[in-house]
Amino acid sequence: MKSAVIAGVGSYLPPRLVTNDDLAARLDTSDEWIRTRTGMSVRHVVEPGGATSDLAVEAGRRALESAGGGGADVVVLATTTPDRQVPPTAPEIASRLGLGTVAAFDLSAACAGFLYGLAGAAGLIATGAAERVLLIGADAFTTMVDPDDRGTVVLFGDAAGAVLLRAGEAAEPGAVGLPVLGSDGSLADLIQVPAGGSRSRSSGPPSKQPDPMDVYFKMNGRETFRHAVQRMSQASREAVERAGWELGDVDRLGAHQANLRILAAVADELGFEPERQLTNIAEVGNTAAASLPTLLAMSAADGSLRAGHRVLLTAFGGGLSWGAATLTWPDVVVG
Ligand code: COA
Repeated sequence: MKSAVIAGVGSYLPPRLVTNDDLAARLDTSDEWIRTRTGMSVRHVVEPGGATSDLAVEAGRRALESAGGGGADVVVLATTTPDRQVPPTAPEIASRLGLGTVAAFDLSAACAGFLYGLAGAAGLIATGAAERVLLIGADAFTTMVDPDDRGTVVLFGDAAGAVLLRAGEAAEPGAVGLPVLGSDGSLADLIQVPAGGSRSRSSGPPSKQPDPMDVYFKMNGRETFRHAVQRMSQASREAVERAGWELGDVDRLGAHQANLRILAAVADELGFEPERQLTNIAEVGNTAAASLPTLLAMSAADGSLRAGHRVLLTAFGGGLSWGAATLTWPDVVVG
């Protein structure tokens, strides 16, 4: 059975920056509060009118270049912020990348989307349905948060990251171990956008129409924090065990960049020193489905992630949904 092997990686951050001080200039918050509570200093945001596909196309192009050119049989876009509710965004990305009429679909698993996407890509490759899968994690979350809600607007940035996965052997560097995945829909209300889906779209009486503020992202931050630490720690242990590794064998922990205190708690729980953790949260904030592939691309580019490193990836987000996966980092030039 073939394995999915990372052959290329790339990321894209939109150039427009929003600093903590920019936010403090118009909201009741401060650079000090944001840095100490979240670890974030600055975030990249799309231009007004910009959308997820704009980021995803650039990251996808870079991942294809990193893989030495060639196309893909399937494009998978993990996102919570598709350009439109209909159609899916992946076909447009495939078309703009010049990939013609290849299979292309969106995958919705919030901030765990990249790991769910790895599982999907691995399945497509294992069954022979695809030889090469372009997996993109992209989100323009700043288009969905209430610009006046200091509790959420400080947390998110926009980005896209991508990997090109090719059919290969399980023992090769870059081969992705089968991810550990989980969900808990009994806690669906913890992280949500109440309006915009079928439940809020009924043509009933005005009393049943959604509140205009329901188009915005809402989150119970404290509860989310607790579950994030618990689920990422547990999934990480399982993924390491599935790989036949010990936690001490892992060279780099790449966890979803949600909050520096969440990262510290997960690292503490698993016994990871700061030198073994990858982080870019200060520069990008929480970029949802883009978080892990962006972290991989930026860490490989700055040398904190190197060929031969044993990597443990983990993520958590709305759903609730979570996951973890292992791989040995391949010798790739970042696109
Ligand atoms: N600036 C200043 N004060 C703020 C603030 C901001 N940007 N945001 C919230 N506060 C205030 C709150 O109103 C509250 O004030 P009160 O005590 O007067 O009510 C106080 O700070 C503490 O709020 P709390 O929510 O308990 O803070 P916290 O330490 O839990 O940090 C989060 C808030 C959102 C940063 C934190 O809970 C978190 O990161 N949660 C997980 C979020 C996450 O990862 N989500 C994505 C999952 S994929």
